[in-house]
Amino acid sequence: MDILKTKVAIIGAGPSGLLLGQLLYKAGIDHIIVERQSEEYVASRIRAGILEQVTVDLLEQAGVDENLKNKGLPHSGIEILTFKQKHRIDLTNLTEGKQVTVYGQTEVTKDLMTARKNSGLQSFYMAQDVRINNFYDQPEVEFVVDGRAVKIECEFIAGCDGYHGICRASVPSDQIKTFEKVYPFGWLGILADVPPVSDELIYVQSERGFALCSMRSHTRSRYYLQVPLTEKVEDWSDEKFWEELKNRLDPESREKLVTGESIEKSIAPLRSFVTEPMRFGKLFLAGDAAHIVPPTGAKGLNLAASDIAYLSQALIEFYHDGSEKGINEYSEKCLKRVWKAERFSWWMTHLLHRFETETEFEHKIKQAELSYILDSQAGRTTLAENYVGLPY
Ligand code: FAD
Ligand code: DHB
Repeated sequence: MDILKTKVAIIGAGPSGLLLGQLLYKAGIDHIIVERQSEEYVASRIRAGILEQVTVDLLEQAGVDENLKNKGLPHSGIEILTFKQKHRIDLTNLTEGKQVTVYGQTEVTKDLMTARKNSGLQSFYMAQDVRINNFYDQPEVEFVVDGRAVKIECEFIAGCDGYHGICRASVPSDQIKTFEKVYPFGWLGILADVPPVSDELIYVQSERGFALCSMRSHTRSRYYLQVPLTEKVEDWSDEKFWEELKNRLDPESREKLVTGESIEKSIAPLRSFVTEPMRFGKLFLAGDAAHIVPPTGAKGLNLAASDIAYLSQALIEFYHDGSEKGINEYSEKCLKRVWKAERFSWWMTHLLHRFETETEFEHKIKQAELSYILDSQAGRTTLAENYVGLPY
């Protein structure tokens, strides 16, 4: 068995793991990343697309914002289509100048991977049978790569291995509590090289269900449809997708919509999920390993980034100043922000989707709430403040 030593072993090379690695490298803290999938697989996953200003700032601090600055699209507003009309939420005016940036998770991942390669940092991709041991005392990570067994002896483990990872699953069940809500529908997403239907994102509430018009650039669009969980992606031809999207749009957008061949199509289930606490001795959970939000508020990737801001700062304080304060406060600080983002994502999901079990009374109440939010300055401010991201 090969034995390696490092300060921090990071499990998972998604945005959480890669960003933590980059911030630790900048602070001169030795670490190794262990990832189950291949580099190509990780780099090609299509997921989130909207970055909060605090996420953009963190990527700048990590020194990986060159492409983001050149290719990211700043957005100062979003549209909500309901009651057959579009209502603009002026994010920037309602939040004293804040905005969001359209820049795909795929691009963030690629930028972080390139920076990592250029700095010659150690990563193991295609790691099999990854296990973490002894994390209340002397942490170790074991895995097999290219048929060779490897053990990493470390001081801390960062569990950045997503919802299906092994880190959360390795915690004794009497030390952890989880909170979960599963929604009775999913999002069917399509990526296509066609110009976006509008300059700004459109969140659609319609009698046929929710839809979202998003984008990755001026020539690449991302659209989503609420679909029942029983739907299969194979049953959705491109034509069927575009037809259904048109049915959920207003006449003007329907007219403007440019359709084309999809380059990706998938169905994602919707879930709210939180783990408490997020620290177990010398093991920290971050990102999707600790919490999942339904995608409606575009918070998943941004929450992963805020966990990493707290975790990197805590580890830097520990190694540079010998202070354990950040480490001890990590879980509490993260969870405070996590629950607020969970609430917002749940609320947006609830407000904009069609629930089959909803009574007529509940439907009317929901319409009244949406109408109040859109017509009131206070309501629009609440939405905008949460959408652009709450402060750290
Ligand atoms: P992940 O990106 O899941 O990365 C975890 C990494 O750990 C993966 O590379 C995985 O291969 C690796 N791993 C897993 N198990 C092991 C193991 N045993 N050993 C080693 N490595 C392991 N958010 C939005 O805001 N908007 C969206 O539109 C959106 N769409 C999404 C669509 C899908 C299908 C999914 C799954 C998520 C979506 N999200 C979206 C959420 C967002 O993508 C996540 O919040 C974000 O990826 C979290 O990053 P992460 O690094 O914490 O986890
Ligand atoms: C995207 C995803 C979201 O969940 C969202 O709220 C906005 C945009 C996207 O993939 O572009």
